[in-house]
Amino acid sequence: MNSLRTQNQMLNCDAGMLYWSCLLSVCLWLRVSSAKADKWTADVPTTVAGLSGSCVVIPCTFHYPATGKTYSTFTGIWHAGNADSKILYHTNPSKISGVFNGRTSLIGDLHHNNCSLKISSLRASDTGQYMFRIEIDQLDKFSYGANKVSIQVKETAVQPNVSVEEELTSGKQVSATCAVSHSCPSDLPQVTWSHQGSSSGPSPPQDHGQWKLTSYNLTFTPSREDHNTRLNCTADFKGKTVTGYKTLKVKYPPYNVKVVTGPPVKENESVTLTCSSDSNPPATSYEWFSLNKTLLAKGSSYQLVKVSRHTEAISCTAVNTEGRNSSDPHHINVLYPPYNVKVVTGPPVKENESVTLTCSSDSNPPATSYEWFSLNKTLSAKGSSYQLMNVSRHTEAISCTAINTEGRNSSDPQKLNMLYPPDIKNESSCQSASSTVCVCIVDSNPPSEVKWFSPDSSKTFLSSRTEIKQSLSIFTLEAWLDFPDTVQCFASNSVGNSSITLKAPQNDMVLYIAVVSAVSVLLVVVGILVYAVRRHCGKRAVRHPAMQFKNADSEMKTTNKFDVETEEEKCCDEDVYTNSPDNNVYSNWGCEGNSPSSDNTLEDESV
Ligand SMILES: *[C@@H]1O[C@H](CO)[C@@H](O)[C@H](O)[C@H]1NC(C)=O
Ligand SMILES: *[C@@H]1O[C@H](CO)[C@@H](O)[C@H](O)[C@H]1NC(C)=O
Ligand SMILES: *[C@@H]1O[C@H](CO)[C@@H](O)[C@H](O)[C@H]1NC(C)=O
Ligand SMILES: *[C@@H]1O[C@H](CO)[C@@H](O)[C@H](O)[C@H]1NC(C)=O
Ligand SMILES: *[C@@H]1O[C@H](CO)[C@@H](O)[C@H](O)[C@H]1NC(C)=O
Ligand SMILES: *[C@@H]1O[C@H](CO)[C@@H](O)[C@H](O)[C@H]1NC(C)=O
Ligand SMILES: *[C@@H]1O[C@H](CO)[C@@H](O)[C@H](O)[C@H]1NC(C)=O
Ligand SMILES: *[C@@H]1O[C@H](CO)[C@@H](O)[C@H](O)[C@H]1NC(C)=O
Ligand SMILES: *[C@@H]1O[C@H](CO)[C@@H](O)[C@H](O)[C@H]1NC(C)=O
Ligand SMILES: *[C@@H]1O[C@H](CO)[C@@H](O)[C@H](O)[C@H]1NC(C)=O
Ligand SMILES: *[C@@H]1O[C@H](CO)[C@@H](O)[C@H](O)[C@H]1NC(C)=O
Ligand SMILES: *[C@@H]1O[C@H](CO)[C@@H](O)[C@H](O)[C@H]1NC(C)=O
Repeated sequence: MNSLRTQNQMLNCDAGMLYWSCLLSVCLWLRVSSAKADKWTADVPTTVAGLSGSCVVIPCTFHYPATGKTYSTFTGIWHAGNADSKILYHTNPSKISGVFNGRTSLIGDLHHNNCSLKISSLRASDTGQYMFRIEIDQLDKFSYGANKVSIQVKETAVQPNVSVEEELTSGKQVSATCAVSHSCPSDLPQVTWSHQGSSSGPSPPQDHGQWKLTSYNLTFTPSREDHNTRLNCTADFKGKTVTGYKTLKVKYPPYNVKVVTGPPVKENESVTLTCSSDSNPPATSYEWFSLNKTLLAKGSSYQLVKVSRHTEAISCTAVNTEGRNSSDPHHINVLYPPYNVKVVTGPPVKENESVTLTCSSDSNPPATSYEWFSLNKTLSAKGSSYQLMNVSRHTEAISCTAINTEGRNSSDPQKLNMLYPPDIKNESSCQSASSTVCVCIVDSNPPSEVKWFSPDSSKTFLSSRTEIKQSLSIFTLEAWLDFPDTVQCFASNSVGNSSITLKAPQNDMVLYIAVVSAVSVLLVVVGILVYAVRRHCGKRAVRHPAMQFKNADSEMKTTNKFDVETEEEKCCDEDVYTNSPDNNVYSNWGCEGNSPSSDNTLEDESV
């Protein structure tokens, strides 16, 4: 019944409302509240758009003829503008059509002429025209049929708009804004940014046609990596997402600066280096530096006329408007034949063991093959290592040759580092000249120590000189006095020991000294005897015999005996010397070849 009446009234009103509507548009919104206050008018947008699933608000104000009375009881109704007369909203909730049940609320206050309606969880079926109706107790009822609002339901939201400065600088903080279009301020989407930063928002909604625009800000610091990437702003409307983006343009100083060379170059050839870098804007100039930071050249490429294996690493620096950056020092890949070729013998080996030799060399590229040669240049083997079975100290020196793509080179011949016990050479001997010199020649590895012993080992002697010639050690013992007939050379090293007994020929000088000593002793004895005889013979002079000191031992002894006898015989014949026996020795020496007159002279002196 009620709905029928409403419709009737609505139809009645239509003609009048059209007139008012036209008047309003002619007046161009010259809103004079007093002029409106006494007419049945409503202000609503003609269209309200909403996102399916979201909510929408129909802003609405209504007016009725004022009679100076105040009314307190209002019934607000929103109903469809077509024949089916669905009721969106009613002050009495039980009158609301089932499809809108619980989804609509009058957010405006009717006492303040505010008829704004909010529809939640919009559905596509909500699309249509609606109008407001007011029933004022003790006044009248009116449907604002001239102020219909059309609700549009969109299935997808509009892409947000992202705005940010056209050209950013890496490391410099900026703000980006994301404008999100929506229909319902109380049901804002969840907005997320693709970049780290501090976000703010939402801003108060602004009208944007049938939509509202809310903006969100992101304050962030762009980096080199952000260049040419999208800054995404994603608005999530209860699971329905829309993403807007802006491609960032970030200026940054050179990065990843590299010296670029082509394929490896042969030694003594020329090479051109280029400098590559990643920067925005592109690098405008380049500089080339040696290891010691000396500027070598400028320009994007650098030519080295003659490279060698010793060519130092070179770095380049790229410069753009934002700054500069340098590459790591770059070593040019220079190809050269092997050098410093060496036979690596490893730890020392013992005789009769086997040994594996390896060949080392410096080359670029690394040596790919090796050859092994004996001293007479005969090829013995190929391969990076060479095994020798049952080696001995006589095993010949071996050399290796390293070969790469650039050439070949050989090592010096290498003797094995072999451990063996002392072998005393038969050239060891003793010789006498002014002194006795014994030489002990020992072949051993490691070098031996030598001790010298007397035959009964009671005495040891120290080498006076040691000389090492390759594997031979030459020990020299030099002795003057008290030297035995034979001497033992005892040599030892960590592997073993050996000894030899050497005959020591008697030394003339030693004999000479021995004789002089013996004669001295003898003469003392003779002196004593003479003294005794003189005391016995009274004042008679003594004539002395000659002595042959140069003679051999036995001879000398004979002479001595003879002399003593002679002396005894002759002691009483002459009485030349009367002084101390010490003089006698000298007198004897002189006595031999002297004339009697000399004797007299001596006699005179002594008297
Ligand atoms: C009507 O009420 C709504 C909700 O309270 C409010 O947002 C709107 O500004 C009001 N309209 C006017 C014209 O006061
Ligand atoms: C984004 O910008 C375009 C062009 O400037 C405009 O047509 C569109 O309505 C804007 N969208 C929003 C959500 O602001
Ligand atoms: C931005 O969104 C696009 C697709 O819309 C995606 O490919 C890209 O990875 C996103 N960017 C970031 C930084 O998340
Ligand atoms: C976003 O930043 C602009 C200036 O960049 C500022 O005017 C605006 O108020 C900010 N909006 C929010 C939601 O912080
Ligand atoms: C220079 O580049 C390297 C990487 O190539 C980077 O790690 C370094 O931070 C850069 N230096 C400057 C000052 O940009
Ligand atoms: C390069 O030249 C130097 C000197 O002229 C020479 O010693 C060297 O062997 C050459 N290197 C090569 C691979 O030819
Ligand atoms: C630095 O090295 C270059 C060649 O590498 C050399 O010519 C120059 O003398 C060096 N300068 C200093 C200061 O060591
Ligand atoms: C072989 O190497 C030595 C240094 O080990 C070098 O002096 C010589 O020039 C090299 N020979 C060749 C042909 O490269
Ligand atoms: C090696 O063998 C030979 C003969 O078998 C032998 O005379 C020699 O003493 C051995 N050398 C060592 C250090 O064992
Ligand atoms: C070279 O010496 C090796 C062993 O050192 C020997 O086997 C070879 O017969 C010798 N060749 C010549 C030609 O002398
Ligand atoms: C090692 O060689 C020597 C001769 O050079 C030989 O007398 C000895 O038997 C060999 N030893 C072994 C274990 O082959
Ligand atoms: C040393 O011995 C070798 C044989 O081992 C022999 O030929 C040489 O004649 C000897 N030399 C001496 C001085 O005895």
